[in-house]
Amino acid sequence: MLFDILKSRRSIRKFQKREVEKEKIDVILKSALLSPSSRSIRPWQFIAVTDRELIQQLSLCREPGSRFLSGAPLAIAVIADKDSSDVWIEDASIAATIIQLTAQDLDLGSCWIQVRERFHTEQKTAGEYIREVLGIPEQYSVECMIAIGYQGEEKKPYEESTLQYEKLHFDKF
Ligand SMILES: Cc1cc2nc3c(=O)[nH]c(=O)nc-3n(C[C@H](O)[C@H](O)[C@H](O)COP(=O)(O)O)c2cc1C
Repeated sequence: MLFDILKSRRSIRKFQKREVEKEKIDVILKSALLSPSSRSIRPWQFIAVTDRELIQQLSLCREPGSRFLSGAPLAIAVIADKDSSDVWIEDASIAATIIQLTAQDLDLGSCWIQVRERFHTEQKTAGEYIREVLGIPEQYSVECMIAIGYQGEEKKPYEESTLQYEKLHFDKF
């Protein structure tokens, strides 16, 4: 049940050495392609990275929020053509979320690494750095990367009793 997946999904930043099977990577990528998008423009593209050296380089895109990526066997960069849609951020974020939930459904852990609006150095954005590492054409912006792998840490699922029910409103605020 999707609700159980939502409760058990936690940000996982430690991973086992074990590789993610190609079949699972394929399911995750196909799921991303099924993401809804405004006016069905589908402005996103996805780069699945399993090359250890590239993952190591990507882990340096930000300090310190991306360092843990070096221990992940798989990273998926979520990029989008920002000139093709005024809501590319929403579209890319939805796809990234679907990637995380599909990974969870496949017994994999994952964590979002924010790239848009983040910096590699004072002079270079995290997106520009990743563009260089992965050879991404100019027209695409990097929204985020999702680190994925078999969990190397345990985190408790969320309990329904701890949800912020005060944030729910019915009919009027
Ligand atoms: C938009 C967004 C950006 C995030 N950026 C990062 C990040 O750069 N690095 C990181 O380690 N976690 C990042 N996270 C993960 C959050 O820290 C995490 O989802 C939050 O603490 C709640 O924990 P949970 O995912 O276990 O429920 C991000 C999550 C979202 C939704």
